[in-house]
Amino acid sequence: MFKIGIIGIGNMGEAILNGIIKNSNIKPDEIIVSDINKERIDYIINKYGVAGTDNNERLVKLSDIIFLVVKPKDFENIVIPIKDKFKNKILISVMAGIKIEKIKSILEDSFIVRIMPNTPALIGESTTGISFDKNFPADKKEEIVKLINTFGKSFVIDESLMDAFTGLAGSGPAYIFTIIDAFAQAGVKQGFSYNQALEIIVQTITGSSKMIEDLKEHPCVLRDKVTSPAGTTIYGLHELEKGKIRDIIINTVEKSTQRSKELSN
Ligand SMILES: NC(=O)c1ccc[n+]([C@@H]2O[C@H](COP(=O)([O-])OP(=O)(O)OC[C@H]3O[C@@H](n4cnc5c(N)ncnc54)[C@H](OP(=O)(O)O)[C@@H]3O)[C@@H](O)[C@H]2O)c1
Repeated sequence: MFKIGIIGIGNMGEAILNGIIKNSNIKPDEIIVSDINKERIDYIINKYGVAGTDNNERLVKLSDIIFLVVKPKDFENIVIPIKDKFKNKILISVMAGIKIEKIKSILEDSFIVRIMPNTPALIGESTTGISFDKNFPADKKEEIVKLINTFGKSFVIDESLMDAFTGLAGSGPAYIFTIIDAFAQAGVKQGFSYNQALEIIVQTITGSSKMIEDLKEHPCVLRDKVTSPAGTTIYGLHELEKGKIRDIIINTVEKSTQRSKELSN
């Protein structure tokens, strides 16, 4: 038997595997992966020392906890033919937009967890939303949260907020990358090379985020501390307000949340 089975070992499947091996006491020989791509399985077996198979039925039979990390369009084709094997197993779905209710309509005797990681999972820094099926055993939740935290930091949320989580955190890295690029270009306009400006802004964002985390102060309190009367910062902040920065960001997350709702319906 294996502790963990991962069906679909693409980008996100590998990120999850890497986190579990690095940051839990689960050993590679307690993990089995499957994929339709044989070369991909061989690559993962060689790189991580886990077991591999191209047979999803075998993986499900042999695993206690199963991550399903395939595209949503492949969900039914994978699960329906082997649904009996999922009985009494824990299934962690990483498929965007597929509701727990939909999974339960096929796998009625399984314990379902739905998660939404984001791309920093690739470096062990995911921001992951977790929703548990309402019948999920309470005494097993902590173990699952710990497992998910091996590739980042997680937030247990009601499933009704999963689309908003997608709009805020799932798509979040793309917004932040865009903002970072804009600041780097601003640095170029003031005479820095792009790379130097990029390093400067990345460190500024990292330092500011850490301050919020470490000092546990409201961001506006920290902002006001660096905003001196008639100084450089208030002149810059005034431009952000003229450009309606808050309006743009609130609308960005709202649109993305709406799109996530449309796609999952
Ligand atoms: N990447 C992200 O940032 C992210 C964030 C949140 C959620 N997700 C979700 O995570 C899931 C996977 O995303 P991904 O980016 O990792 O996709 P991906 O790289 O395409 O990985 C999916 C893997 O599953 C394999 N596969 C397809 N059919 C299969 C089958 N019948 N049995 C076993 N394996 C099969 C695919 O093989 P082929 O390539 O040969 O088809 C591929 O290797 C998606 O549902 C996505 O919505 C991803």
